[in-house]
Amino acid sequence: MTWWKEAVFYQIYPRSFNDTDGDGVGDIRGIAEKVDYIDELGVDALWLNPIYESPQADYGYDVSDYRAIHDEYGTMEDWENLLEKLHDRDIRLVMDLVANHTSDEHAWFVKSRESEDGYEDYYVWREGEKSEGNEGVENSPPNNWESAFGGSAWKYDEGRDEFYLHLFHDKQPDLNWRNPDVREEIADVVEWWLEKGVDGFRMDVVNLLSKPEEFPDGEPESGWVGYEHFANGPRIHDYLGELCERAFEPYDAVTVGEMPEVTPDEAERYAEDGIDIVIPFEHMELDTGDTVDWYTTEVDLVELKEVFSRWQETDCWTSLYWNNHDQPRAVSRFGDDEEYRVESAKMLATLSFTLKGTAFIYQGEEIGMTNAEFESFDEIKDTGTLRRAKLAMEEIGIKGFENVRDIVNYWTRDNARTPMQWSDEEGAGFTESGVEPWIKINPNHEYINVKEAREDEDSILSYYRDLIELRKQNPVLVYGDYELLLDDHPEVYVYERSSKGNEDEENDRVLVTANFFDGEPSFSLPEDYDCELVEVIISNYEGKGETDTGDEFELRPYEARVYRVE
Ligand code: GLC
Repeated sequence: MTWWKEAVFYQIYPRSFNDTDGDGVGDIRGIAEKVDYIDELGVDALWLNPIYESPQADYGYDVSDYRAIHDEYGTMEDWENLLEKLHDRDIRLVMDLVANHTSDEHAWFVKSRESEDGYEDYYVWREGEKSEGNEGVENSPPNNWESAFGGSAWKYDEGRDEFYLHLFHDKQPDLNWRNPDVREEIADVVEWWLEKGVDGFRMDVVNLLSKPEEFPDGEPESGWVGYEHFANGPRIHDYLGELCERAFEPYDAVTVGEMPEVTPDEAERYAEDGIDIVIPFEHMELDTGDTVDWYTTEVDLVELKEVFSRWQETDCWTSLYWNNHDQPRAVSRFGDDEEYRVESAKMLATLSFTLKGTAFIYQGEEIGMTNAEFESFDEIKDTGTLRRAKLAMEEIGIKGFENVRDIVNYWTRDNARTPMQWSDEEGAGFTESGVEPWIKINPNHEYINVKEAREDEDSILSYYRDLIELRKQNPVLVYGDYELLLDDHPEVYVYERSSKGNEDEENDRVLVTANFFDGEPSFSLPEDYDCELVEVIISNYEGKGETDTGDEFELRPYEARVYRVE
């Protein structure tokens, strides 16, 4: 079944969604309390970031027990109630499967560290390189691979006198997928949750599971040193094919694969393995310069269009997203979070809902939540940001938050993790007033919040509802072919979606025009593009229903217009 192609997903970061027990941390009951809100929006599925037992070194991506609920979030009973409530409203629930690594506090790692029988090879252990140094024998890591959060990807363990691999935090040791017992354990976890009624999984960094047999050094100049050896590794398709066939297919469960460093060609192979929706990264890397996460350059629209178009034209199905819990807020990054906040948030959304793929909304995006302004390292909660900042400062030889303030505020994942803004009250309706939330609340909740958005029919929220509805009523937006027009135009993104290639469908055609900046560009369509504009079916400015549109297009700042054409 392919319900997931037509579906709209809503992503919840449970820690920051809604706190019902007054500890400043969101919880499962808090999600259950907001199910009507989610239903009203018109979405079909929820993706929950990890809620399993975890020491929270990477806020749940360090799992210590896959079959238990983290106590700050509630109990298994709370979770069962949530599932029931969602299913009563025909909303599906997709959980997060973190299978590349566990927490170092997971029982498997504790046993592996002790070399307990059967567990020695559950993780990736290697001897270091021993050499004579000034202070006796020096033991250096097996190779130069880096952690995604900066620094070596290896940590020395005295007990075993070996290093273990951690592509992320050192409290997230990588599982050894070469070991069939590990593959069996993960398949059991998946089955256990599917038996409980889950509808599928978003699979965390799932193209990193397969490590090579040898551990050669990575290219030192690359963004993530070593990735050419561990991303899309040698046996990845065997592992995923096996997992999908054994665990997912019998339940007809959806699989959403998060895949850093994946290309469209590779993504097609993942689709053959059974991965339904691929989460690509290329469009999230256009402002990073050469090195991911610690530099910025302006986004070049021509390049962005080229990236999207390449993905639109392949045979794999992707998620369409501008935001998630790892990315700065899109309206601050790709739009204008001051003068044109509403217009630019709506323009970005228009693209998400009219390109080919499955649209994902990240909590707060639907009200145009922005980046926050963090004032000190104490306010930063994301371990990745803290580590990168520390290493960069050591390397350049600078000290003090003020010297890295701009770059930290641009990139930190905490931008996405500030609490959901439900109201203008002191705790933003996320937590009771007087309670200290686990991460700071963005002061702009005074005017950016759900309560206000609900009362305003021109709000970003209302526009999201309209877009969701539009997509439901126009299958061409889901299944239609994509054709890019004006590929070299530096300010506007113009494309057609059409069902003309699909014989059994009506000949629907839709033309999308979007101004990506705050200028007022005018343009006309290419001469060989044959079309007659019928009417504007949605726009982030007034103009819906207009029929007399003329040949010359003029767009206002961040204006998006979607036309039905013949
Ligand atoms: C994924 C998650 C991210 C996490 C990392 C390690 O990229 O989305 O939040 O830090 O994997 O699990």
